Amino acid sequence: MNFTNKTFWVTGAASGMGKAVSVALAKYKATVIISDRDAQGLTDTAQSIEAAGGTAKVVILDMSDSRAITESAALVLSEGYKIDGLYHFAGISQRSLVTETPLENDRKIMEINFFGVVALTKALLPHMIQNGGGQLAAASSLVGKFGFPYRSAYSASKHALHGFFETIQAENFQHNIHVSMLIGGRIQTNISKFAINKEGQEHGKMDPGQANGITPEKAAQQILRGLKRDQREIPVGGSELIILKIRRFLPGLHAKIIRKIKPM
Ligand SMILES: NC(=O)c1ccc[n+]([C@@H]2O[C@H](COP(=O)([O-])OP(=O)(O)OC[C@H]3O[C@@H](n4cnc5c(N)ncnc54)[C@H](OP(=O)(O)O)[C@@H]3O)[C@@H](O)[C@H]2O)c1
Repeated sequence: MNFTNKTFWVTGAASGMGKAVSVALAKYKATVIISDRDAQGLTDTAQSIEAAGGTAKVVILDMSDSRAITESAALVLSEGYKIDGLYHFAGISQRSLVTETPLENDRKIMEINFFGVVALTKALLPHMIQNGGGQLAAASSLVGKFGFPYRSAYSASKHALHGFFETIQAENFQHNIHVSMLIGGRIQTNISKFAINKEGQEHGKMDPGQANGITPEKAAQQILRGLKRDQREIPVGGSELIILKIRRFLPGLHAKIIRKIKPM
């Protein structure tokens, strides 16, 4: 992907990695359609995009509202935008055991992290195919590669993204559609603060993992480097990414490490 003067749709763009990637794209004079449910955050991101030399279009969008997603996509396309890349960052995390998590929490997480992503991708993919191709990227996680305590629905939602996007890649390779999965390790964002606990309330804390993670700006650099190369999987983070190798080559040790994880 060559970003210069292209048009991208970035979800979860009001904060964290979505914001950092949007601003990084602006440096290539890109047009960035930024969506999120946080209107004030989007205004701030839009200002940063314009200051960095790009053009911003704000679309307030709740990723748990499939109908609004489809309508917003249709409206944006009717305004003549040609989308070259769709990068999904909107998401919420979780802090609760399987045995204490009500089904409604599982559904809420799947609705935002999976069905919202599916709805927006389906709304834009035919347009990308018609325009000769495009790039799709979705923020998965280390726990999109393996299960992890206190993250059952979150981990499941990220695993589901892999199946969905790998299928898109297989079905649309001939249409010049490129898919990149972002394998996030630990990044200093608010993701743990807004994670939901067993009561469905915000966890409200910055966990040490995130506090000691790489900055969103550093993450954006890693992401753009991988996107430029159309890399199928882009690891994002620091030394914690070694767990991917442990999982692959020493699965027994990996299982022992994972089951020792204690609640925050
Ligand atoms: N940070 C990490 O360590 C890490 C690791 C692996 C993967 N990831 C993934 O990376 C992605 C980006 O997260 P981040 O770390 O940058 O955290 P973040 O700053 O919390 O970004 C997530 C964004 O998604 C938005 N969002 C949440 N629910 C939404 C909804 N229903 N509709 C629209 N937007 C919604 C949030 O808006 P509000 O501010 O309104 O909630 C927020 O702007 C997420 O998918 C996350 O799962 C993060």
